[in-house]
Amino acid sequence: MKNTVIIYGSTTGTTENVAHKLAKFMGVDEKDVVDVKNIAPSQLGNYDNIIAGSSTWGSGELQDDWFDFVDGLKALDLPGKKVAIFGCGDETMGDTFCGAVATLYEAFKSTGATMVGAFDIVGYDVTSTPAEIDGTIVGLLLDEVNHPEATDLRLRKWAQLLTDEFAK
Ligand SMILES: Cc1cc2nc3c(=O)[nH]c(=O)nc-3n(C[C@H](O)[C@H](O)[C@H](O)COP(=O)(O)O)c2cc1C
Repeated sequence: MKNTVIIYGSTTGTTENVAHKLAKFMGVDEKDVVDVKNIAPSQLGNYDNIIAGSSTWGSGELQDDWFDFVDGLKALDLPGKKVAIFGCGDETMGDTFCGAVATLYEAFKSTGATMVGAFDIVGYDVTSTPAEIDGTIVGLLLDEVNHPEATDLRLRKWAQLLTDEFAK
């Protein structure tokens, strides 16, 4: 696989655990699983593929540690990079479910990167999420609060999808 980084922002460790599990499923080296606190947008030049994950806090907002990084992205052009987004949320929070995925998606898309990794939310009760953009769920949405049993299978399927996309 080309050079891949998994960047996560996580307050209570949920998204962090998912990031490490994803790395295992995709064969991404542990050293390339990075807390967003420890990487600057300017370092993205080292990677062909970027996987970004955030939990959602407040009311549909990014996890706190992502804010500075997302600000920094505005100054970057990343054409030729492939980017995929995942998030952890709580579907009982109504129409804010995984709102951070939408924010990260828009931020990376504005750099000119190629966005990949759209994935449906079959099996959840939620009917609307900010992560549905133009009729597509733009990343992998996980709910470790209400559906922890669903995570591994969804993550494995998404890992395979990304492995195929990144190989193109
Ligand atoms: C105060 C609070 C606000 C939250 N707000 C949202 C929200 O707006 N939308 C959502 O989908 N999940 C929301 N969640 C759920 C978290 O995103 C979820 O617990 C997640 O797994 C936390 O992941 P982390 O430990 O990686 O930060 C909220 C949780 C708390 C405690």
